[in-house]
Amino acid sequence: MNLCVLGAQWGDEGKGKIVDLLTPNFGVVARYQGGHNAGHTVYVNGRKFVLHLIPSGILHDGVTCLIGNGVVVDPHALFAEVDKLAGMGFDVAGRLFVSDKAHLILPYHRELDILSEARRGERKIGTTSRGIGPAYEDKIGRRGVRVGDLRDTSDNGPLVGAIRENVDARNRLVGNTEMKWQDVVADLRVMWTRLEPFVADVSLRLSQAFATGTRVMFEGAQGTLLDIDHGTYPYVTSSNAVAGGACTGLGIGPKAINAVLGVAKAYTTRVGEGPLPTELLGEMGQRLRDTGQEYGASTGRPRRCGWYDAVAVRYAVRINGLDALALTKLDVLDGIETLEICTAYKCGDEILTEMPADTAQLAACTPIYESMPGWTQPTRGVTRFSDLPAEARAYIARLEAVSGVPAAVVSTGSERDHTIVRDDSVAATWF
Ligand code: IMP
Repeated sequence: MNLCVLGAQWGDEGKGKIVDLLTPNFGVVARYQGGHNAGHTVYVNGRKFVLHLIPSGILHDGVTCLIGNGVVVDPHALFAEVDKLAGMGFDVAGRLFVSDKAHLILPYHRELDILSEARRGERKIGTTSRGIGPAYEDKIGRRGVRVGDLRDTSDNGPLVGAIRENVDARNRLVGNTEMKWQDVVADLRVMWTRLEPFVADVSLRLSQAFATGTRVMFEGAQGTLLDIDHGTYPYVTSSNAVAGGACTGLGIGPKAINAVLGVAKAYTTRVGEGPLPTELLGEMGQRLRDTGQEYGASTGRPRRCGWYDAVAVRYAVRINGLDALALTKLDVLDGIETLEICTAYKCGDEILTEMPADTAQLAACTPIYESMPGWTQPTRGVTRFSDLPAEARAYIARLEAVSGVPAAVVSTGSERDHTIVRDDSVAATWF
């Protein structure tokens, strides 16, 4: 049984914790898109781990972690993470593999990301400035450099040729400073000596895992509404965060994915620019931000917060074929007198019950809310559904009804054991 775990909102849903929790039942965890723009925070025995590129499955002994061809890899970011894990007692050697087809994020990508944002001015995306977009642009533009290309150590081979051309293009664009292609190549030579033992044919490793009955978890980064095709374009990331991305980003067939779990907060957050229909700009938004510690794991930016948007989650259910939701951060809502759930949008004279493709239209929509009573008793750390206050159970039941799938997992705090897995749900077989 292979499971895909992904974000059903705008990222930061708490996928890291859910993946970490599920990992003991899987032999392999494979990341299929994005780069070190992602930030997965996991708390284990009170210790905080923030992972950006390496799947959080790495915190479990004996689990193999794969970084697929759909991921863009900054080798410096990768080794910063490897070294940090080593410092905390986690040895990744022989357990972490990177696809030789994954594209590299190079120094000019980071610069071009910042430059492109500056050029857009008020229309900026609010990227993480990690070079993600420009690295994917080079991939699609067929001028990218892949991990496996670093095998070419000749002085005037294809690797040097590609770097020279790309650095020349960068120098033409960034007029006031010059980057030397020789420096980029020299750095990559050093990186290759460290990277080489990690390089693998990820698709082949996965097919071998399938053949031996090893359970595989496919890990998405960001979220459905940040997907390059299905998100709130252009305010999106540059890869396919949706379940379909697992096929192209790992080299597997669709039938290898047996189930899909969408992770969604019990409310909504977003970092960066772009429409967020349920955004709360006043006191309640600040309350959610403070209680939920809603600050970006990668950039530290404050997250925009709002009520649960069932239109968005329903859309994620459709686009990804979700079997269930893992509902996170329920405890953040403790003590709020009245909770609102957005079930549709009002856009001019129109009532929309489905997510519009037109981002400008979405930006002009106002949410139509349904109110639910909140609860006063704390839910933090509750591990049994029946121990939740009746109002919390009713709130979850309503979210399930308006989202269209069961909430098979409910997270009630940041620690591993602050979790409810509902025995009567489809998730019972995943744990
Ligand atoms: P980029 O991925 O750095 O190009 O940023 C594009 C958009 O995606 C921006 O709005 C970012 O804030 C957002 N984004 C990228 N990675 C994450 C993430 O892991 N969580 C939440 N938002 C993200």
